[in-house]
Parts: sequence; C-alpha cells; structure tokens
Amino acid sequence: MEDLEQLREDLLAAVAAAADPNSLDAVRVDALGRKGRITELMKGLGGLDPDARRAAGQALNAVKTVVSDAIEQRKKALDDADLESRLGAESVDVTLPVRPERQGLLHPVSQTIDEVIAIMGEMGFAVAEGPEIEDDFHNFGALNIPPEHPARQMHDTFYMSAKPDGSRLLLRTHTSSVQIRTMETTEPPIRIIVPGRTYRSDSDMTHTPMFHQVEGLVIDKTSHFGHLKGCLIEFCSAFFEVANVPLRFRPSYFPFTEPSAEVDISCSRQGGTLKLGEGDDWLEIAGCGMVHPNVLKACNIDPDVYQGFAFGIGVERLAMLKYGIPDLRTFFEADIRWLRHYGFLPLEVPTLLRGLVP
Ligand code: PHE
Repeated sequence: MEDLEQLREDLLAAVAAAADPNSLDAVRVDALGRKGRITELMKGLGGLDPDARRAAGQALNAVKTVVSDAIEQRKKALDDADLESRLGAESVDVTLPVRPERQGLLHPVSQTIDEVIAIMGEMGFAVAEGPEIEDDFHNFGALNIPPEHPARQMHDTFYMSAKPDGSRLLLRTHTSSVQIRTMETTEPPIRIIVPGRTYRSDSDMTHTPMFHQVEGLVIDKTSHFGHLKGCLIEFCSAFFEVANVPLRFRPSYFPFTEPSAEVDISCSRQGGTLKLGEGDDWLEIAGCGMVHPNVLKACNIDPDVYQGFAFGIGVERLAMLKYGIPDLRTFFEADIRWLRHYGFLPLEVPTLLRGLVP
C-alpha cells in the first residue's frame, strides 16, 4: 500500500511536470502502457489470494483512475494552451482598409440647381414644382400652342398611349407647364422658379432625351422687359461669378411670350474645353419673354391688370459652361470616374455669403 501511495505521488508529479503533449504521452505510456507501472502491478494481482486480490485491485484501480483523470486534465490544459498560443500567433487581420471619409458626390446637375436656387432665392423667387407626366393642356394648349401649331413639331414630344377618350398624356417638353399650374392656383403677385426634368425625343452631341430646365415666372402689375433683362444679367454674373457677363439677347419666337428672346453667352470651345466669356462663339442658355396675354387668360388672370415675364434656362448648359464639361452626353452615362472628376461634396451647400463653390 505504501508503494501505491508513492506510485500515485510519483505519477501525479510526472503528469504535472509534463510541459507538452509529447512528454505527457511518455508519462501515460510509463504508467498505463502495455508495460506501464500500473499495468505491471495489475498483472501481478493474479498471484494473490482472492481477498488480498480484491483489496489490492480496488486500491490499484483507484490509483489508475486518479492518474488517468490527471492525464486527461493535463492534456486538455496543454491543448488549450497550445490553441491559445496558435490563435495569438496566427491571428488573421479581418478588418477592411479604412474607407475614404466620403464616398458620395453630387452630380453637377444637382449642384447647379442648388446654386440657381441659392441665387434666385436671394432675389425673392420661391421654388415651385409640377408633374413630369403632363397633359396636353398644361404643356401646350394653355401656353398658346393649339393642336395644329407648328411649334409642336419643334418639341419632339414623347407621348403615352392613348386613353379611351383619345387623349394622350406626355412627358413634359419644358418646365413652362408649371407656369400654368402655378397661375391656375396662385393669386398674383407670383415670383417662382421651377427646376426640373424635361424630355424630348432628341439625341446627339448637344441633346439628350432627358435634360433639366429652370423655369422662371414673374407676374405682377408692373414688371417689364427691362426687369427681365436685369434679372437674367444679375443671375448670370452671380452664377458665373464675373462682374460683366457677355450676354446677348437675340429676338426670337415662343408662342407663350411676346416679345420673346433667346439668351446667348459668349464662350470659346478650344482644345476640347468650353470657356466662358472669351472667344467668338455663343452658347444659347435660355429662352425668355413677356408672358403672352393668351396665357394669362387661359389661367383666368386678367391681362389688362397683370403682366410679367418668364424664362427657361438649360441647366446642363450652365453646368457645362461653369465647370468646363465639354460633352453633354457624359452627364447621363453614369460613369463613376466622371462623377469623381466633376462631382461636388454633398455637405457644402452653395450660399451667396460663402461663395457658391467651395
Ligand atoms: N419653354 C421654352 C423652351 O423650352 C423656354 C422658355 C421659357 C421661353 C419661358 C420663354 C419663356 O424652349
């Protein structure tokens, strides 16, 4: 029995001292292997008489159990420690590279519309809106363009399929439809701008089937053509941030204004960029005129009391000129590289105080 006590102490000490799985396994073989110390003692039990064998067998079994439990525990401890150190050494960096602080950029069209709103807002214009899917009356009829009017041809209209009554909705060809919608519902004085999408079935270097306009409408008792000119000149010098913008008012024709003019801005197109205010080229940026009495009448406004002016500015034209973007079609190709080059920081809202462009 003394021997067993000693054996137990020895083996437990050896188990505790095993520093790695290999030496622990050597301890196991030494104790419990085929020729192990406990195994050998087990073999010796057969020579004892039954009573002594039972007592010695129980004692030996107890030692065996204690030792194999200790080996089991030690093995688990060593395995855990091994795993811990492997995890520490082999750790994988699963973090992604830090993202650039800002991903999104504003499209030049959005930026330009924001700038126009900032300038015109300062001049006392409110922003109005209307539907992009329009009826004939608001896009044409009320604007003094009756069904057979040749001006309809110029508009390359996209029509929806006919309704049972034969009428067809259309994609508005200009923001002038919102002049009508506003006059129908608002008592003059009126002073609005209408930024929005417009559609014409036309596609080449300088035309895209969808484009943007900003309509302007002023209705009161006294506004005249001089105010219209002053307003557009003021707008252009604020927008382009130059004191004397070379503008040209060229007599023109629109059914809904009389007299009418087109507004050109002087520019050059050398070396694939578009530059403002130099060279001998002109780029048309707006149509304008005094609101036609028939238009006022169509909206139940008395043309003997009220008068006013309207203009429609091409947003892409403004953006191309100010930011030197040579090709209109690239605006709508949704090329992320183009946007990274020409886009604007979304949080730096244009104001006249701070300057329009950061
Ligand atoms: N609606 C005209 C166009 O799209 C522009 C315009 C607006 C002209 C207002 C005069 C007055 O061409």
